[in-house]
Amino acid sequence: MRIGIPAETRPGETRVAATPETVKKLAAKHQVVVQSGAGLHAAVTDEAYAAAGATVGSADDAFAADMVLKVRAPNESERARMRPGTVVVGMLNPFDSENTAAMAGSRLTAFALEAAPRITRAQSLDVLSSQANIAGYKAVMLAANTYQRFMPMLMTAAGTVKAARVLIMGVGVAGLQAIATAKRLGAVIEASDVRPPVKEQVESLGAKFIDVPFITDEEREIAQGVGGYARPMPADWMRRQAELVHERAKLADIIITTALIPGRAAPVLIKEETVAAMKPGSVIVDMAIEQGGNCPLTELGKTVVKHGVYIIGEPNLAALVAADASALYARNVLDFLKLVFDKEDKFFIDHEDEIVRATLLCHEGANLRESLRK
Ligand code: NAI
Repeated sequence: MRIGIPAETRPGETRVAATPETVKKLAAKHQVVVQSGAGLHAAVTDEAYAAAGATVGSADDAFAADMVLKVRAPNESERARMRPGTVVVGMLNPFDSENTAAMAGSRLTAFALEAAPRITRAQSLDVLSSQANIAGYKAVMLAANTYQRFMPMLMTAAGTVKAARVLIMGVGVAGLQAIATAKRLGAVIEASDVRPPVKEQVESLGAKFIDVPFITDEEREIAQGVGGYARPMPADWMRRQAELVHERAKLADIIITTALIPGRAAPVLIKEETVAAMKPGSVIVDMAIEQGGNCPLTELGKTVVKHGVYIIGEPNLAALVAADASALYARNVLDFLKLVFDKEDKFFIDHEDEIVRATLLCHEGANLRESLRK
């Protein structure tokens, strides 16, 4: 098969879907064509791709392949460059029904890697985890960079400096990495989440869990989430959480929010009155900004100062660590491809495989997401 790796075109997207390491493995069985400059931001040269066995060509060459490996969903002009029947693999946003319909209309066979179920067998191809892990790390780096004080406690001849207090809201993959990273920098950490198993994970990383007790069976049931993901909590629980968070936020120097609910707007966890009650010079990194944000004062792509608090609304934090984010993403892609090539290295779709079934958005003109809804 001919496999193409184009350069990403979405603004701010620095990652690339294959690295010399993965190209080498692909090129042993397939023809690989990489668009010149595709790895530029991820510190991969055309020469490195060529040395790994790829042909370096134009965007048209990459999109003319039988299979195209992407980071982000193809836009209109990228779709137009692909022939009907082209297989596209990437983070194609399964919740963007317009885009899925457009890809089905172009008769692409599209696999959205974010839609893989959170099962053990899918861990090595779990793009949400590999990228959220990096984003959680980078969020702490951005916060530390903006914060005008030290993170660790220091005893110097000129006096003692207190450790920064960090509050992490939402402890999935990104939140856990944010805790671990802030801990390494010497911060004192508290964290909150709706899902009960998180408490133990938070404590095992040396942070304190902010418990919002469940009062009703309904709250307890919803907090279990579905498929490992959170569900929207009842208003009364959210109110009690907000009250508790308000008190903890007053003491915090840095807040990192990561709370997401798949397919919905992010829950509001840090209200304006909470920001107003925070210490001047505190920092909020709102990692949920692409889903509307966990704080209503966050502005997409900007760092703003509101009530004396820096609020960072940087989207796509993983793209700020482009080389490692690409390296891990490319390995995820390679692992996924093992599911769609048979022993003779021919492309096939195993509709019995739950990972393949969950990730397949459209095939031969059929929008499979649409048929799921019916
Ligand atoms: P996510 O990015 O969807 O959400 C981030 C966090 O926000 C979650 O922990 C969620 O519970 C929390 N959250 C949502 N609403 C909230 C609220 N109102 N207040 C406080 N926190 C709130 O989550 P992510 O990182 O994708 O992880 C989801 C699940 O997947 C986790 O259970 C994780 O352990 C599991 N997982 C399983 C894997 C596997 O077995 N293959 C691999 C990676 C993750």
